[in-house]
This record gives sequence, structure tokens and C-alpha cells, in this order.
Amino acid sequence: MTIQEAIEARHSVRAYKEQPLAKEVVIELQKKIADLNGKGQLHMQLILNEPRAFKGVFAYGKFFGVNNYIVVAGQKSDDLDERVGYFGEQLVLFAQTLGLNTCWVGLSYTKIPGTYVLGDGEKIACYIAIGYGETQGVCHKIKTVEQVSNINDTTPLWFKKGVEAALLAPTAVNQQKFSFEYIGVKDGRHQVLAKKGFSMIGYTQMDVGIAKCHFEIGAGKENFEWV
Ligand SMILES: Cc1cc2nc3c(=O)[nH]c(=O)nc-3n(C[C@H](O)[C@H](O)[C@H](O)COP(=O)(O)O)c2cc1C
Repeated sequence: MTIQEAIEARHSVRAYKEQPLAKEVVIELQKKIADLNGKGQLHMQLILNEPRAFKGVFAYGKFFGVNNYIVVAGQKSDDLDERVGYFGEQLVLFAQTLGLNTCWVGLSYTKIPGTYVLGDGEKIACYIAIGYGETQGVCHKIKTVEQVSNINDTTPLWFKKGVEAALLAPTAVNQQKFSFEYIGVKDGRHQVLAKKGFSMIGYTQMDVGIAKCHFEIGAGKENFEWV
């Protein structure tokens, strides 16, 4: 499965099989996590065979059989949430190519002391449940390209493809409070602006990071630059 195919195949999965993660899958995940932690200045940690964090009753989302998850942490900073979204989603899509399922979790988890490590000044931004799903999940309700961008007859085709890929991205409560603006050409480079909308629920900065990750894959990173 390619990363583009992973974008189409990925849906949030909240019920998992008891089956532990295969050894070679764990090795691949750990390698990817180390790579993304370096690139994103994050402290993502894979927690295996730990059933307690998702055992409670939560206000948002019912989880079953979650024994593996990623604790997504990093140094407190203004752009932490966007980096969490951008690099965390790369991990989510990579996991999908390995035959795994996932669910981003902002609220519905319990921090179990002793299972993760936090350095000085670090905080937990969210968790990501991971494992072999009981199902592959279902497609979320999707806004139109026009609702979340300034697409028109003159914007390039790759811009449309980027927005379409972003619309398949997970967002908290499927709020999709992001938008993309095609700005034009500057110094021979196409410029795109990603914006977050307002939400009482929050998580909009994380959502924008996730949506930017999808946009780049859909549009082709070489075709434009962010402003
Ligand atoms: C930042 C973030 C936080 C989320 N938090 C939760 C959560 O606490 N509980 C839950 O059940 N789902 C959570 N989700 C999953 C969303 O509900 C889901 O991504 C959205 O409904 C779109 O569905 P899809 O992922 O299947 O495309 C979260 C997603 C994101 C991106």
C-alpha cells in the first residue's frame, strides 16, 4: 500500500483484536518513530501490551481492546500542536501501510504513570490508539473542496488534489475547521496558505498539522511552498 492509498484506506478504528503487534511491525514502527521524533522535535513513544489507558468510560468515543498506543509528547511551545499533527499523521499513514489501524485520541484516555517518560518541559499532547482493527472503520462526512478552499478555474490541478487529500484527514470530532488558500506565484514558486478556523472544542492547530500532511501528499510537495 502506498501512502496515497493509505490516505484513502484510513479511518478511525476504536475496537481492536487481542492479537499483539508482530515483531517486525514493532521494529518498523520504532524506526519510523525515531525518524519522526528527530524531524519534528517530538517525543512519541510506542506503548505495547498496556490495556489500562483505554479502559475507562469516556465522554467522546467508545474504545475496545486497545492494548497498544502512542503517547505523543514534546516540549511545550506555541507550535507543538501543529508539529504533533503533521508528524503524528505521517506515523498514522505509515502504520496503515503496515496493515494496522489507528485512532487519534485527544480526550478519551487515562495517563498511566510509569508507562511513558517525559523530559523537562515536555507535555503530552494526545494519544494514538494502534493495532489490528476489528473493522477498517468507515468514511467520515466530508466537506466540499469549495467549502474549505478558494479553488476556482485558475487554480492548479495539484491544488485541488491537495485539498481533496486534506478532506480525508482525521480531525477532532470531524470538525474540518481548516482551509487552504492558493495565493499565487512568487519568485517562480506557487504559494499556499493553510489556516485554522475557530472551534469551541479546540484541537484546530493539531487538525491543521494533520491536514497539511495530507495536502502535501495529495498535491506533491515539489509543486508549492507554504506561506
Ligand atoms: C486531534 C484529534 C483528536 C481526536 N480525539 C478523539 C477522541 O478523544 N475520541 C475519539 O473517539 N475520537 C477522537 N478523534 C477521532 C475523530 O473523531 C475522527 O478522526 C473524525 O471523526 C474523522 O473520522 P475518521 O478519522 O474515521 O476519518 C480525534 C481526532 C483528532 C484528529
